[in-house]
Amino acid sequence: MSYQARFKVWRGDADGGGLVDYEVAVHEGEVVLDIIHRLQATAAPDLAVRWNCKAGKCGSCSAEINGRPRLMCMTRMSVFDPAETVTVTPMRTFPVTRDLVTDVSYNYVKAREVPSFVPPARLKPGEYRMRQEDVGRIQEFRKCIECFLCQNTCHVVRDHEENKTNFAGPRFLMRVAELDMHPLDAADEAGVDRRQGAREDHGLGYCNITKCCTEVCPEHIKITDNALIPLKERVVDRSYDPLVWLGSKIRRR
Ligand code: SF4
Ligand code: F3S
Ligand code: FES
Repeated sequence: MSYQARFKVWRGDADGGGLVDYEVAVHEGEVVLDIIHRLQATAAPDLAVRWNCKAGKCGSCSAEINGRPRLMCMTRMSVFDPAETVTVTPMRTFPVTRDLVTDVSYNYVKAREVPSFVPPARLKPGEYRMRQEDVGRIQEFRKCIECFLCQNTCHVVRDHEENKTNFAGPRFLMRVAELDMHPLDAADEAGVDRRQGAREDHGLGYCNITKCCTEVCPEHIKITDNALIPLKERVVDRSYDPLVWLGSKIRRR
């Protein structure tokens, strides 16, 4: 089935902009990104949009469709009523570069602030062994395609620009959790305390587990239940367990 759809697309740049109305053809099986491409080929050749894979794997085509953060290439037109107007706007949490393209460099800054995996000094490459149970626990987090939809959605930064300095956001707190759960990570030996870092450097305390990040993740990663809550529990264990506290003081001498 083909029909003419009504679209409203945000056009503008850092200095301002607004919604522009379009009427555009939609064909069976198409996704929102197809329609944006059709607009580029017809009524709006200068419409800016970021995309790469059109398969839900590169994480580039994030936007807000009818107010909901989604990947444009994974949002089928069939989920909308043909009579409905579909509104496409850029991610709200990041500064607009142009039209649907935002400057996501906040995320790269936060990524760099998480200390990398530290290989264990006592083992040579090839001698690493991990239990399947430990691998399974962190494997889920590796599905992240860095679309930054979770970062865009979390209310801690969505409406509070001022929190960006102190809050790494769900994607990068999940990265801290992944490394803290990694059985071979030897950050402690290198003087890096990941749990203290989660609290003091990455703003774990700002997260009040509203789970909005989890709801929008296109990879269906259980960010809150499997990464953020366990990380909070680990941070609390470290802070309130007197033996853990004493051990960490002795190790640091
Ligand atoms: Fe996107 Fe999910 Fe990764 Fe967040 S955790 S960046 S929503 S894939
Ligand atoms: Fe934000 Fe997710 Fe926590 S939405 S408040 S990081 S549970
Ligand atoms: Fe790659 Fe949409 S174009 S995720």
